Amino acid sequence: MWKLFLIFLTLAVGYGFAVPIKHVEDSCTYPNGTDVKIHTYNCDGSWPIMVKNSQVYDSNGNVMYPIDPRKAMILDLISVNNGIVFTDNKVNVTIYSFGKNWLTGNCEWLKLETGTLLANIDGCEFAHNCPLQTGDLDLKLPLDLSLFAAIVNTLASNKPYQLEVQMFDYYEGSKHEEIACVVSQIRFSEGN
Ligand SMILES: *[C@@H]1O[C@H](CO)[C@@H](O)[C@H](O)[C@H]1NC(C)=O
Ligand SMILES: *[C@@H]1O[C@H](CO)[C@@H](O)[C@H](O)[C@H]1NC(C)=O
Repeated sequence: MWKLFLIFLTLAVGYGFAVPIKHVEDSCTYPNGTDVKIHTYNCDGSWPIMVKNSQVYDSNGNVMYPIDPRKAMILDLISVNNGIVFTDNKVNVTIYSFGKNWLTGNCEWLKLETGTLLANIDGCEFAHNCPLQTGDLDLKLPLDLSLFAAIVNTLASNKPYQLEVQMFDYYEGSKHEEIACVVSQIRFSEGN
């Protein structure tokens, strides 16, 4: 707001009259330092599995940042399981982009429609890390967004994105309780 005001002031002084708002830069800056590093936190509330740190690797095990959504990646969630041993789980991933709400002028997260493409992912099959033991956990979640061409094509490279990863207990007889909920804010690499 302050920056906007300054630009407006400069223009107003410079030209002696008010100029259309379209001259003002309209992009949103990367929140939480995501221009240089992934930012991960637990959703509001308390979950049996809580994340402490995160990193994204390419298939060769090298840190990948910014992230190229066309390449296979591993979202590594350094976590702790304060609950029970989970023998089965399912994962839902929701993708949001960060952009300006033209009604309010605020930068906000906007949910992308990915249908059922990233829903009910079999966590055990996908990540080969079941059962999830108690105590310290190194959750490596392979994500291959390139399989979802429809999604990747909508991922413009010069905007912040966030992945909300929800994990549910799918052990027989469980009530499918949410056992982890994590938000990872990231930047996808500039397109080639
Ligand atoms: C930045 O991260 C904090 C948690 O670390 C979160 O509460 C906040 O909503 C994030 N900001 C944006 C703009 O997403
Ligand atoms: C996961 O997402 C799908 C699609 O949005 C939804 O139908 C399903 O109920 C979600 N899973 C859980 C356990 O909430």
